[in-house]
Amino acid sequence: MAAPDSATGRCFKHPLIHPLAPRRAVADDHPALVVRNATLHNLKGVSARVPLARLTVVTGVSGSGKSTFARDVLHASLAAAAPVGCAALDGREQIGRLLEVDQTPIGKTPRSCPATYIGFWDAIRKLFAETTEAKMRGWTASRFSFNTGAGRCPVCEGQGQITIEMNFLPDVKMPCEACGGARFNPETLTVQWKGKSVAEVLNMAVEDAVDFFAAHPSIAHPLRLLQDVGLGYLTLGQPSPTLSGGEAQRIKLVSELAKVRGRAGESATGPGRPLPPEKHTLYVLDEPTVGLHMADVEKLIHVLHRLADAGHTVLVIEHDLDLMAEADWIIDLGPEGGDGGGEIVAEGPPEAVVQVARSHTGRILGEFMAARRAS
Ligand SMILES: Nc1ncnc2c1ncn2[C@@H]1O[C@H](COP(=O)(O)OP(=O)(O)OP(=O)(O)O)[C@@H](O)[C@H]1O
Ligand SMILES: [Mg+2]
Ligand SMILES: [Zn+2]
Repeated sequence: MAAPDSATGRCFKHPLIHPLAPRRAVADDHPALVVRNATLHNLKGVSARVPLARLTVVTGVSGSGKSTFARDVLHASLAAAAPVGCAALDGREQIGRLLEVDQTPIGKTPRSCPATYIGFWDAIRKLFAETTEAKMRGWTASRFSFNTGAGRCPVCEGQGQITIEMNFLPDVKMPCEACGGARFNPETLTVQWKGKSVAEVLNMAVEDAVDFFAAHPSIAHPLRLLQDVGLGYLTLGQPSPTLSGGEAQRIKLVSELAKVRGRAGESATGPGRPLPPEKHTLYVLDEPTVGLHMADVEKLIHVLHRLADAGHTVLVIEHDLDLMAEADWIIDLGPEGGDGGGEIVAEGPPEAVVQVARSHTGRILGEFMAARRAS
């Protein structure tokens, strides 16, 4: 039974049937990033605003200019601190940080894993160092690192596997025979916290670890976020190179959410208000729902809402109707692809976009939202 999210009041049990919540309003004078006269690739003098602290979705048929607008113009102009592919970009002083959350791997070495990437592995190592057993041996938290130090398996150097280089063939990875994949040497593994060794903790699934570390918020909080985005089945130590693109993307979002202090409703500026520039992040995501199951799309939407509630600006390029219907603001490009596109066809909240007759997005989204209301 899915309870309404305490911070936002949204219920995610039937996202495909019921609208999740009233939208965050975008008044005419709402603070925004404004792109003026973008002409890169097929864009035909596009001017559009991206409201701050809101969830904006860029829509349009394939080749209409979505990635060009969001990444090659807006993102590039912010990154370069100068207009790229457009005449001007207003409002960039309101953004402290720019982050493109894509599906590229989160780490190339097998030593990287969810626990180290998000960062709660350090807190777990400290718990092991605080055990009587560790103190008696004079071991600090560094003993429980598999990246460096005396605690890790010397044969595989903490990777749990060894790479065999083959002539003329791709490298082959084999489980390390010395540690059996445990990553640590036998002495280190004698230390237990709540009956488990560090290696056993690394092999725990996120959903089990949430309860196991319940008394330690700095560990349990990010674990709960991982569970919230549908990654409860991953183990804490799953090597990063083995994660799928969608999994890697959601882990990146979790590491962002873990930085959002307190609950949105408790922030000094209130939910959905832009943060002061130094704390304000613009997140850019190009088709984050690709490859996700419907239930995971719902979880992704939840994460995006939480970032916007916390005062950040979220810009998503999407074809997924569930996500479009959740937008506070839509920028619809088109009407067609290539030379037949590159114009703003509609701009506004979904309710306004569905009124625009020549917008393909408007027509399909209108039917989708009507079906959702009727059921
Ligand atoms: N580097 C480039 N040089 C020239 N033309 C480009 C370049 N990148 C994209 N285009 C063209 O600009 C148009 C818009 O491309 P864009 O990638 O922005 O589309 P899109 O809306 O993101 O499509 P999709 O949904 O397929 O990702 C297309 O006609 C494309 O062929
Ligand atoms: Mg694209
Ligand atoms: Zn080993």
